Amino acid sequence: MYMAIKLNDRYISSFVSPSELESVKSQVSAAHGLLHGRSGQGSDFLGWLDLPENYDKNEFARIKSAAEKIKKDSDILIVIGIGGSYLGARAAIEFLRSSNYNELAKDTPRIYYAGNNISPSYLNEILSLCEGKDISVNVISKSGTTTEPALAFRIFKELMESKYGADAAKRIYCTTDKSKGTLKKLADQQGYETFVVPDDVGGRFSVLTAVGLIPIAAAGCDLDAIMAGAGEARNALATDNLETNDCYKYAAYRSILNRKNKAVEMLVSYEPRFTMMAEWYKQLFGESEGKDQKGLFPASAVFSTDLHSLGQFIQDGSRVMFETVVDIKNPDKDYFIKKSPDNFDGLNFLSEQNMSAINRKALEGTILAHTDGGTPNLVLELPAVNEHEFGYMVYFFEKACAISAYMLGVNPFDQPGVESYKKNMFALLGKPGFEAEKAALEKKL
Ligand code: PA5
Repeated sequence: MYMAIKLNDRYISSFVSPSELESVKSQVSAAHGLLHGRSGQGSDFLGWLDLPENYDKNEFARIKSAAEKIKKDSDILIVIGIGGSYLGARAAIEFLRSSNYNELAKDTPRIYYAGNNISPSYLNEILSLCEGKDISVNVISKSGTTTEPALAFRIFKELMESKYGADAAKRIYCTTDKSKGTLKKLADQQGYETFVVPDDVGGRFSVLTAVGLIPIAAAGCDLDAIMAGAGEARNALATDNLETNDCYKYAAYRSILNRKNKAVEMLVSYEPRFTMMAEWYKQLFGESEGKDQKGLFPASAVFSTDLHSLGQFIQDGSRVMFETVVDIKNPDKDYFIKKSPDNFDGLNFLSEQNMSAINRKALEGTILAHTDGGTPNLVLELPAVNEHEFGYMVYFFEKACAISAYMLGVNPFDQPGVESYKKNMFALLGKPGFEAEKAALEKKL
C-alpha cells in the first residue's frame, strides 16, 4: 500500500521496547473504534475524516475560480484569520512555495496575514505595504465573531471601500459558517462571495476546506493534488493494524512516551520552509490534547539553526522531551558544492556533493547525539515537498492527533481553555454584559 509518510522507529528502541508497543495495541484499537464508530467525545466534529472524498465539489470549483480572479486582479491578498482560520493556509504556502514566498512570487499575489494578533505596529506595516497596490481580502472566521479578525476586517473593509467604492464587495471573500454569525450576516448584506466552514469540521482541522484552500490556490498550489494526497492517506491509514498504519504507530509511541514522563514533543525539521507547518502542528495538538491537566506540550525547532540555541538543552538539559524529526528525503531544490582550487577555507572535504548530503549528515549526527544524551527520537520520513505529500501529511497528523487524544481520554475537538482569556479581555475592555467580571478583575490587576 502507498504510504507517503513512513515512521522510522529505529532510534526509539532503547527507550520503548516492542512489548511496550504491544501493550498499547488494544488502546489504539479502542481509539480507532471511537473515531470510526463516531462514538467518542466530540463526534459531531468528524467531518475532516472523510473530507478528502466527501467535499462540496461545486464549492471546490468556486474556490478555484475565486483564486484565479484574485491572481488576475490583485497584487496583494490579505488573509484575515486566527488559529485554525489561518495557520493551515500559511503553513501550506510556505511549505509548498517558500518561506520567502512574498519575495519570490511572480505570477501570484503577495500574501499578508492580518487579524492574527492585536498589534497596531504589525497592522500599520501591512497597511503601508498595501499602498498603491491592488488588493483582495479573504476574511476567515468559523464563528464569525472572533475579536482579532473582526477588528482587522473592520479596518480592511474601510480601506477597500475607500479604494474601490461599490466594487470593493467584488474583492472581498468571506469564509465562515453557512448560516450564522456576524460575518455571514454582513457578507449577505454586502454581497461578498461566501465560502463555508462545514459545521462538522473544527477550525484546526479545516485546512482542506475553503478556510485553507482559497489562499493556497491563490498562491498557485494545485488543489487537486492536495486532495488526492489526503485521499491516499485516508485509504492508507484506515486500519488499526500497527504493522501497516504508521500514523497509529506514531500515536502509540507518543502515548507511551507521555506515560514515561516525557512532557514535551519537539517537532524538528531541517528545512526552514517547515517552520509554519510546525506552528500548524502545535495548534492542532496543543488545542486538541492540552486539557484536563493532560497532554504533551507541542514545541518545534528548525535545525541546524536551533542546534545553536536549543541544542544544548535537548542534549543535556532536563530530560522532559522527545523529538519527532520530520525527515524530508528530497529537498525542493538542491545545491552542488564545487571544489575550491586553493581550498582557502579547508572545506574541500565537503565539496563535490549536494548540500542536502551535508544536511543529512547533520540530521544523522544529531539524532545519534540526542538519543545518546537520553532524548528519544522518532523519525517521520517525508519523500518530497509537493502538494500530494502535503495533503497526505495533513491527514496523517490530523488522524494521529485524534487517536492520541482519544488514547489520552480527552475530547480532541473542543477548546474550552481558549475562552478564558477572551472573557477576561472583553471584561477589561468594558464589553456590555461583563460589568461584574470587570470589577472583580480590576481588583486583581
Ligand atoms: O481550532 C479552533 O477551533 C480555533 O483555533 C479557531 O480556529 C480560532 O479560535 C479562530 O476561530 P474562528 O474561526 O471562529 O474565528
